[in-house]
Amino acid sequence: MNEQEIEALEIRFLLEVLHLRHGYDFRNYSKDSIRRRLRRRLKLDGLDSISQLQHHVLHDVDVAENVLRDLSITVTEMFRDPAFYLAIRKTVLPQLTRYPHFKVWHAGCATGEEAYSMAIMLAEAALLDRCHIYATDFNNVALNRAKEGIISLTQMRINSANYQAAGGTGSLSDYVHANYDGAVMDRALKRTMVFAHHNLATDTLFGEMQMIVCRNVLIYFDTDLQEKVLTLFAESLSDGGFLCLGSHETLMLSRLAKRFEPVVADQRIYQKVA
Ligand SMILES: C[S@@+](CC[C@H](N)C(=O)[O-])C[C@H]1O[C@@H](n2cnc3c(N)ncnc32)[C@H](O)[C@@H]1O
Repeated sequence: MNEQEIEALEIRFLLEVLHLRHGYDFRNYSKDSIRRRLRRRLKLDGLDSISQLQHHVLHDVDVAENVLRDLSITVTEMFRDPAFYLAIRKTVLPQLTRYPHFKVWHAGCATGEEAYSMAIMLAEAALLDRCHIYATDFNNVALNRAKEGIISLTQMRINSANYQAAGGTGSLSDYVHANYDGAVMDRALKRTMVFAHHNLATDTLFGEMQMIVCRNVLIYFDTDLQEKVLTLFAESLSDGGFLCLGSHETLMLSRLAKRFEPVVADQRIYQKVA
């Protein structure tokens, strides 16, 4: 066995420990990205090998939490990729008006910016009172921040530019108030939002949705896990419901493609066929 193969084996063992000891399943994540992130953690902790790190992950919950945070990338912005939101605003929201009440699920919501962006668009379309937004992630640190609705002040300029490019009809400052910690989202938006821990690799569905948004999450999974998660989404959506993946992911290579029709092809927005 060469060095690389030994390292691959060490990574497998470490991921088993994370799963069996701490309940987090990264076994079907893209191998390259996992390797890069673990090597970075070795440097930060001054360790020589992944086996050493594995020992710490087994015995020390804090180290396990650090590794969990390393492996879950929570980069996000409000109205990230404005063209995606513009497509939702123009094409999907008008179709949601047919429901007296509907549910939206943001899977892998990170610190919540994506779900708050959706809430703002729904408010501007006078649909917020008709819906519930479920925002889930398996990273509790990110999720707690999402629940508090705190947005970094340094990101506000880019968030505002994104909001305008996404067809915002007012000003983002109408929905965000400054406080000592940064910027905090308007409470009126939170009324319809539920933040919950949910692990896409191991947990099951939790209700029938009319729209699911999952962006910049599936790219970290291997094809088996992508297929498993897409199956979960297909089962969670009502007929005619919308699956919104964003421009970086696709459904077309999946055997589930036949259960959906493209609505906005370049933004990978699909509708489930009956
Ligand atoms: C790059 S962020 C994407 C945030 C947001 N969707 C966006 O596009 O701006 C990826 C998120 O997926 C979450 N994630 C990764 N694997 C997950 C899993 N198995 N279950 C739930 N969330 C997961 C990470 O914790 C992280 O918050």
